[in-house]
Order: sequence, then C-alpha cells, then structure tokens
Amino acid sequence: MRIILLGPPGSGKGTQAQRLVQRYGIVQLSTGEMLRAAVAAGTPVGLRAKDIMASGGLVPDDVVVNIISDRIDQPDAKRGFILDGFPRTVPQAAALDELLKHKHMKLDAVVELRVNESALVERVETRAAETRARGEEVRIDDTSEVLIKRLAAYRAQTEPLIHYYSERRKLLTVDGMMAIEAVTREIGRILAAIGAVEKKASKKSPPAKRDPGLAGRAPERAGKSAAKRTTKGRAKPKKASRPALRAGKRAAKRVKKAASRAVPRPAKKVTKKRAKA
Ligand code: AP5
Ligand code: MG
Repeated sequence: MRIILLGPPGSGKGTQAQRLVQRYGIVQLSTGEMLRAAVAAGTPVGLRAKDIMASGGLVPDDVVVNIISDRIDQPDAKRGFILDGFPRTVPQAAALDELLKHKHMKLDAVVELRVNESALVERVETRAAETRARGEEVRIDDTSEVLIKRLAAYRAQTEPLIHYYSERRKLLTVDGMMAIEAVTREIGRILAAIGAVEKKASKKSPPAKRDPGLAGRAPERAGKSAAKRTTKGRAKPKKASRPALRAGKRAAKRVKKAASRAVPRPAKKVTKKRAKA
C-alpha cells in the first residue's frame, strides 16, 4: 500500500502515520523528520534547510524530491509506504507522479486530515509544552509565531493539492477533529473500502464501493468474490467445519439484512463532490 497523508501542521499526520506503520507494517517517509535529521547532522542538505525550516517556509522542491526519490528505493519501502508531509506543492506532486511512474509503482490514496485552525494552534502548543516537560528539545518551528507562517505556507502552497488529487480521484477526506483512535479507525475503514488494505470482519462493514463488479450481487456471492480477491497469491484457507458453515450462513443472512440498510459513506461522498467541483 502506498498512501499520502495530507494536512496542515498539527493535523496529526505524524501521529497517524506511526499508527498505520504498526497496523500495516509499512514504512513512514516523513520529509520533516528526514530534514530535521539532516539539520542535526549538519549535512549540506541540512545547512540549506535549517533557516527555512526555522522560519516556517518550505524547503526547495528539488531538495525534497531527491530525498524522497532515494528513500523510496530503499529495500524497506518495497512493501509500501506512507508519505507524511510530502508532497507539499503542486510541482512536488507532479514530480512524485513521474517518480512513481518511472518505478512502476501505484499510489493507492491521498488521505486528507481536516482540522480547525484553532485546534492546530492548541495541539502544537501542547506538543511543545509536553516536550519541554519531558526535558527534551522543542522543535524550533513549534512556536505560535512560526506556526502562523507554516499555516500560511500550507494554505498558499499545499492546499492546492486537495484539488490536484481530487481531480485524479485519489482524495479521501477524514475528520481529523475526532480522537486519535477514531481517526485511525476511520482511515482503516476508508482504506479497506477502496481495497487498499484487507477489510476486517465486521457486521457493520458495507461492501467496498470502488469495485462495481460486486454491486447489486447477493452478499454471499459478493463475499465469495471479495474473499477470492483478498486471498489471491496466498495459501488457500482451510475447509470450514459443518458448524462453522452453519454459522457462516447465519452471518451471511445478517450481512444481507445490513447491506439492504447500508447508506453511502460520508468520506466517499466528499471525494465525489470534490471531484465534481
Ligand atoms: P513537518 O515535520 O512535516 O511538519 P508539519 O507538517 O509542519 O507538521 P507537524 O509535524 O507539526 O504536524 P503533524 O501533522 O505531523 O501532527 P502530529 O501528528 O505531530 O515539516 C517541518 C518543516 O520541514 C516544514 O515547515 C518545512 O520547512 C520542511 N518540510 C517538510 N517537508 C517538506 C516538503 N515536502 N517540502 C518543503 N519543505 C518541507 O500532531 C501534532 C500534535 O497533536 C501532537 O502532540 C499529537 O499528539 C496531537 N494530536 C494528533 N492527532 C490528534 C487528535 N486527533 N486529537 C488531539 N490531538 C492530536
Ligand atoms: Mg509531522
């Protein structure tokens, strides 16, 4: 799975990326973290980025594109990755499209975390206070003054990516105002709905909506096809026992009932609206 987490500073990209790493076993590629490491190590890239980062501006596109291009080639990124904080400009997004095309890789989705500005300020202030309380060094850009500049840079240079990915039908928007755990659950749900990750067995799960082939079929049949797709290339599942088959039939009935009540999901609605806009 390859996804991008998009959102303003403090929206929870890093927090969610780490949770997704735990859940799906893929790597987090954070340009912010890589640049901070370069600054700390005093590399040429770090020297170039230091003052820009401290002032809340964006590091030049060519610098971050090169960093990401090299990083994607590392063996640990082969199974997939979460891009956290990249791309941040339309030229970066276009460069990423080219890179992925060249490497024969496909982007599954861009998950936008939407959070009110007042909450962003609060979150960044809390993070700074907590870091200080632990006796650790506070990020140089974690002040209200720099945050205002980071937000301005986000609005001017990064927000256009919402339109960019919406047009390409990649954008999925999540309410980042929810509690951390709820945001993770929602990201998992929408990634499962588009088939980027395996769906967890749940009575409430509606059928994945990106696969028109499953629409309108009996749930049992749709279930079979979905199982086929998700087990492709893996070991065959064991044959079920009779009681398990009876339980399966009962579950299928419940799913059928639930499917008849199913309503379109908000995240998909937002995406469609956007895509039309
Ligand atoms: P980067 O490191 O990417 O920072 P950022 O995007 O500016 O934002 P943050 O890391 O502050 O926020 P986050 O969204 O990760 O939120 P977090 O999970 O930490 O970039 C830093 C700088 O590097 C840039 O300004 C730029 O100069 C440069 N740079 C980086 N990439 C670049 C690029 N591609 N191009 C050019 N320049 C680049 O959460 C924040 C706090 O909120 C935490 O304390 C967390 O616990 C809390 N929190 C998270 N979620 C929730 C929730 N749901 N409810 C309550 N609290 C929450
Ligand atoms: Mg971050």
